[in-house]
Parts: sequence; C-alpha cells; structure tokens
Amino acid sequence: MTDLPKPLVAGNWKMNGLKAALCEVDALEEKIASHLNLKCDLMICPPATLLCSATIAAKKVEIGAQNVHAAFSGAHTGDISTEMLTDIGVTAVILGHSERRADHGEKSAQVAEKVAAAQRAGLLAIVCVGETKEEREAGQALNVVSRQIADSIPIEGSNADNIVVAYEPVWAIGTGLTPSVNDVAEMHHSIRDLLKGMFERDGDKMRILYGGSVKGSNAAELMGVDNVNGALVGGASLKADDFFAIVEAAYL
Ligand code: 13P
Repeated sequence: MTDLPKPLVAGNWKMNGLKAALCEVDALEEKIASHLNLKCDLMICPPATLLCSATIAAKKVEIGAQNVHAAFSGAHTGDISTEMLTDIGVTAVILGHSERRADHGEKSAQVAEKVAAAQRAGLLAIVCVGETKEEREAGQALNVVSRQIADSIPIEGSNADNIVVAYEPVWAIGTGLTPSVNDVAEMHHSIRDLLKGMFERDGDKMRILYGGSVKGSNAAELMGVDNVNGALVGGASLKADDFFAIVEAAYL
C-alpha cells in the first residue's frame, strides 16, 4: 500500500457559517504555511453560499461542496450542478451523507448518479456510508455499509483518484460517541476488501475516511487504525484551531 494517496482530512461545515466564517479558512492557510511537512491533504466543505469566496481564499486547502444535482443543467430549482462547482474552483463534493439520506430521502441509486456526475466534471466524490444505532445493535452494520457502497459507487469510471469513501456511523455523528478502535478496524478492513473486489488495484488505493465525533483528543488513535486514511470532520472543523488540532495529533 505504498502508493496510497496522502490521507485526507476534510471538514464538513454542514449548514453552518456566514461570510465572517471565511476567516477560519484564512487561519487554516496560515497554519499550513508554517507546517510545511504535513502528511495529509486538507479540505473544507462550506455551505454553498460560501463556496465561491472560499475558493478565492484557499490556496493549499481544497474546497469541496456538500451536495450536487446529477444533471448538467436544466429546470431544477434550487440545485447546483457539478460543472457549476468546477467553474468556481471547487474540487470535491460530499455525496450520500447520512443527513441527506435522512432529511431528503436520498437513496444509494441517486448517490450513484451524483457520483457519475462528479466524475463527468472531474470532481473528487467523497461517498458517505454508515449504519444507524439500531442497525449496529441488530448486527447489521457490515451488511448495511456493504450494500451502501455497492449501490452508491458505480463500477465504471470510479478509481482511486476520483473516489474517497467516508465511513460515518450515524450514531457517532455529533454525539461525542465513537466506535471502539477494534470496531473501526473491522469495518475499515471489510470496506477495503469490498473495494478491492469492486475495483481491484484501485480498491487498494482508495482512501477510506472515518467520520463521527473526530476531535484533537481522539484523532491520533482513530487515524492510527489500519485502513483509516483520514477523517471527515463535522463540529471540530468549524474553527481552524480545533480542526488543525486533529492534523497535529495525527499527521504532523
Ligand atoms: P461530527 O464530527 O460533528 O460528529 O460530524 C461528522 C460528520 O457528519 C461529518 O460529515
């Protein structure tokens, strides 16, 4: 696994942040500038209203979106296309987040269409999967995650450069709870096997992020688990200091 891409630490701001929050992108850039030997890539995914300004503010930090429509253009009020994102310098998009699956009834088949649209435009797709508390308690975590991956990531066109998988157990998001290191290891190992089965050599190189209550104090442990190739961070990504504490703990 020597040719694995650099780990990725991505911040999902969700529906948080007014214009003033862009100072956090500036602050992150300053921190990167004084730490030249970072062992990970960094990304911020602000709300759609801030994407354009964020791409202007960001130099080393990649800027990603949190959702997209699969069509190139057309009568889809309120939606944004992948080409609109690349047009303003966005390089990635989070797809299939559990909050979109829950709040908007997004199904894996729709996520797969959006992944294909991301590839059409040259965007990195960060595909989120994860089980609920009930599913884990019923012993279904692995089944649920495997099905989400198989149904959300199209075989054709997907490779290690355009797909990142984010395993985010729903019950760990915003709760302060995290799975045990063994549970993370087991799930990420299973995801790796699945990706190798689907994508052969590329499956070996696709980054698998862990997400759910990642913070500076648990990052070293979680990021140290085999097959954990970075983090998708919610709450702790809103402030550059908190976000960078994760990087310092795991990737300096
Ligand atoms: P928290 O880090 O706030 O738990 O959120 C995780 C998440 O949903 C990132 O996409």
